[in-house]
Amino acid sequence: MASPVHMCLIILHISLIVLAGRDFYAILNVPRDASTKQIKKAYRKLAMELHPDKNPDNPDIEEKFHDLGAAYEVLSDPDKRKTYDRHGEEGLKDGGMKHGDPFSITEEKLLEIEIEPGMRDGHVYPFLSEGEPHIDGEPGDLRFIIKQAKHPVFERKNDDLYTNVTINLQDALVGFEMDITHLDGHKVWIISTFSQPKGEGMPNFENNNIVGILYITFDVEFPKGELTDEQKKHAVELLQMSSDQKVYNGLQGY
Ligand SMILES: *[C@@H]1O[C@H](CO)[C@@H](O)[C@H](O)[C@H]1NC(C)=O
Repeated sequence: MASPVHMCLIILHISLIVLAGRDFYAILNVPRDASTKQIKKAYRKLAMELHPDKNPDNPDIEEKFHDLGAAYEVLSDPDKRKTYDRHGEEGLKDGGMKHGDPFSITEEKLLEIEIEPGMRDGHVYPFLSEGEPHIDGEPGDLRFIIKQAKHPVFERKNDDLYTNVTINLQDALVGFEMDITHLDGHKVWIISTFSQPKGEGMPNFENNNIVGILYITFDVEFPKGELTDEQKKHAVELLQMSSDQKVYNGLQGY
């Protein structure tokens, strides 16, 4: 089965609330021509040092920590930095920061997940260091776990698929043809010689050239109501089967 590759996009929002600062370059202890990389590095270092949890005895630390956040928000954003360089912090208040709280940072992150053919239930897709940010340590990993949804037609066991089809007695006797719509929408053509359709299970995740088996179980629906004597006579003539009953073990089949 040639299952298309699906892409999932996850958007993470990380919001931090910070308060006003003054000379943002001084707060971050970087020169006015510092690169974004330098600013990031300085912020990480200072955020660790100034974190309130690490300075429980310093009453001013919270304010300093908030100033640091504000400085980083502005200087790490090229547009805001430009406005700040020209008009100072006042300039930012006139429209540089529009969302409700003027000092909320919203960081948006786009993560891409490729759902590959043959992926199994419980497959773990780790995004290293994309988990909850920690101010004084490495961020955790974000683990994306594939959970296989139930399907109304197909049951999966390893790479094999199972489906049941109810046919009527007439089709069972005379023969029939039908299509089964597979998971990716392609049609599997079934004819009543009951030959095994080839390569219609799931692609093996490790080796997509190997494909599981599609097992189809047919059950036969009998006509409702009883046949008239005339119809019974016709049926016997038609089928010409002798009336001998075979009794066998109900679970093992022998
Ligand atoms: C489908 O067919 C299998 C194999 O004969 C059988 O064990 C199972 O009970 C059937 N499923 C249903 C829902 O009837």
